[in-house]
Amino acid sequence: MQHIPKPALTQIPQDLVSLADYAHYAKAHMRPDIYEYISGGTGDEVTLQNNQNAFQRWQIVPRMLQDVTGAGTQVNLFGQTFRHPVLLAPVAFHKLVHEQGELATAEAVNALEASMCVSTLSSVDMETLGSTLTQPKVFQLYFQASRDFSLELVRRAERAGYCAIMVTVDASLHGIRNRAQRAGFVLPQEVRAENLIDRPELPTASFTPDQSIILQGMMSEAPTWTDIDWLISQTDLPVIIKGLLHPDDVKQAEAMGAKGVVVSNHGGRVLDQVPAALEVLPEIRAAVADDFTLLLDSGITRGTDVLIAMAQGANAVMIGRPQLNALAVAGALGVAHMLRIIREEFEVAVALAGLTSLGKVRQITLRDCYC
Ligand code: FNR
Repeated sequence: MQHIPKPALTQIPQDLVSLADYAHYAKAHMRPDIYEYISGGTGDEVTLQNNQNAFQRWQIVPRMLQDVTGAGTQVNLFGQTFRHPVLLAPVAFHKLVHEQGELATAEAVNALEASMCVSTLSSVDMETLGSTLTQPKVFQLYFQASRDFSLELVRRAERAGYCAIMVTVDASLHGIRNRAQRAGFVLPQEVRAENLIDRPELPTASFTPDQSIILQGMMSEAPTWTDIDWLISQTDLPVIIKGLLHPDDVKQAEAMGAKGVVVSNHGGRVLDQVPAALEVLPEIRAAVADDFTLLLDSGITRGTDVLIAMAQGANAVMIGRPQLNALAVAGALGVAHMLRIIREEFEVAVALAGLTSLGKVRQITLRDCYC
């Protein structure tokens, strides 16, 4: 029997109180192949699992009797003030789960004075979102086969008032997404990458028998450090590089003039068996200047996760799947509620850990319970 997704709820049920609850509810509100595409990872999903486990190994050793009434949640990232250290990660095609797509997400983001990274692959164009979003907003760039077209996307983001360009470098190829394959996921016709409708046609490539369609074909258009250097030289907006896991890559990004890095494994969606972002964060923090901006995503679902990531050196975090789960379950209302949940959890964690100021977050005592 065909599974008909339930419509978005107009009221939040009493038992929907965490981001995990949203993930649980989401299944009934999405087409099955879309659910598998969104919630799945790659390969055997070892990294997807690691992303969750990585947070669980850390224990926060709280300090008592501290006066926390002066602690705030505001953070400064690449020259902008953000009300809260939890941002919405760039996520493609919100219309997969809700007819208003990113516009509904943006409405929720505005209601909570939160911030959103708009994907190159958004299903609402970046200009419409740029004029809708009221708080600092980031445009996420996927390099295009044509440099001219990549630059055009950057210029459009500048004109539309985005405060930074976040260039994603870990997903030149999709990973091997078996769950999405088994479920027969294909992008529905009515959902398009609205920013790319004027993309120039690519010439058809041909290969000699000793060439690989992947290595010499698809990867011939993948960006390299030269493209990063070029991008930084082309725009006055801060450039943030998303998807680095190796400390040497992060050092190189810093040396080239990037204004920040997102330590991320793309939510376990690209190469399987890579480390969880949290696992490599301390080494990366130690490799760069103290004030170099590091964001982290992949596996954040609790306010305590945010605190643990910040205690280990992240300046802020981003959440990916939870925004689509919440959007599917209850539209803009759901996204606003989901954001409120994780913010409240974070504030409770700050208070109960005895943190007197966010500036002292790296002084929190963490205990590794695997040691
Ligand atoms: C993503 N992600 C992503 N990243 C990016 O830079 N551009 C994009 O268009 C997308 N699209 C996208 C679609 C879907 C369905 C998912 C789940 C993820 C990755 C995203 O920004 C982020 O890195 C991860 O989602 C973080 O992991 P969590 O929070 O989902 O565990």
